[in-house]
Amino acid sequence: MVIDTEKLKKELEEAGQGQLLGTVDAAEKLAGIDLELVSGLYRLAREGARPDEGNITPIPVTVAEELPKGVRAKYVAEGERLIREGAFASVTMAGGQGTRLGHTGPKGTFDLGVREHSLFEIQASRLLRRAASSGGGRQIPWYIMTSEENDGATRRFFEDNAYFGYDRDNVFFFTQFMLPMLDFEGRIVRDRPDSIKMGADGHGGIFRAMDRRGVIRDMEKRGIRYAFVGGIDNVLVKLCDPLFIGFASLNGYPCAGKSLIKRDPYEKAGVFCLRDGRPYVVEYTEISDEMARATDARGDFIYGDAHILCNIFSVDALKDAGAEGLPYHVAVKKTQFVNGAGEVVVPDKPNAYKFEAFIFDAFCRYPEMGILRVRREDEFAPLKNKTGEDSVETARALYESALERNMLD
Ligand code: UTP
Repeated sequence: MVIDTEKLKKELEEAGQGQLLGTVDAAEKLAGIDLELVSGLYRLAREGARPDEGNITPIPVTVAEELPKGVRAKYVAEGERLIREGAFASVTMAGGQGTRLGHTGPKGTFDLGVREHSLFEIQASRLLRRAASSGGGRQIPWYIMTSEENDGATRRFFEDNAYFGYDRDNVFFFTQFMLPMLDFEGRIVRDRPDSIKMGADGHGGIFRAMDRRGVIRDMEKRGIRYAFVGGIDNVLVKLCDPLFIGFASLNGYPCAGKSLIKRDPYEKAGVFCLRDGRPYVVEYTEISDEMARATDARGDFIYGDAHILCNIFSVDALKDAGAEGLPYHVAVKKTQFVNGAGEVVVPDKPNAYKFEAFIFDAFCRYPEMGILRVRREDEFAPLKNKTGEDSVETARALYESALERNMLD
């Protein structure tokens, strides 16, 4: 890439980013960065997002366990048909940093100490089993979103493990976009003297990445109509559930989401609702006390259906969301930085802003969304932390229990 250094220098100085002058890697990376966006992000970090206005009402929910037998059978048959005919794909978002788990390497390479030896293997074997039981003799196309930070290591892991039995042609890696991290004064962070600190743009970056990296095109070429989109770190994720696929397809939902009932009013999960009549998720950090605790006459939470990052989209809906960006949210993180004296410092407390888009901010694009409430113990075992809540120990125990109950089909 040919870089006009004089022009870049002037732009950096004008944008208050003069500290980056002379960093080779920064010059390359910065050539692709919108400095105006960077100032906008800093404003967002300092001033906060505009308060969420709009009329919040409950969203209709279908309880999977209460489905009449005939309806359930119809959904399952439809889901299996779509899998068999190659019209269904699974997308795994594995671009996160996994900072809380503290594992060296991509989170998907983590060995939980169960039947499979990594989170990627858990997902691969589930997809292969489902494809086999649905008939048709073809594998479910599997798209894996990585980030620039972990793409190489992820691909090598697949190579080293012979793709877990998957045909290479059916696994498609694509990277999400990155945004610079900013210090509390709005300066782009240098993490080494010659490089700037970029962070993945959040799981909401999936739509733009699928659009720009050729995923949608590939799906259309293969005749895929529906895709499941989920994370890597729920070790019970049903990433190819015929019931859920049929539920979305037969009802013609552009987008569907699985939910489960919140454990308590303050569980750290966003909840589904409608905002001005459109599907919406209120994040746990933004929910009011009143909304979190509201119950109906039976004592059930009115806004109790938690979003668990298990969604199905039609390919048309994915395309639509990819055409436009989503808003960014701000997180405060710890990252090593270069101080004024040119030394690398590893801080012991958060020192920088990171910007992320959230996948559920796309939901309001769709006129309706199907919500399918499922059982927590069968489908939700997040692996976030080393110890304590949502940890290696809890995820392993939940996985073993589901295996024993034969719930890992
Ligand atoms: P989390 O938000 O829990 O983040 O991601 P994380 O990276 O796994 O962990 P921490 O917060 O750094 O400890 C939920 C899911 O979304 C994916 C993650 O890989 C995980 O599957 N994700 C998150 C992305 O693919 N890209 C992102 O930019 C953020």
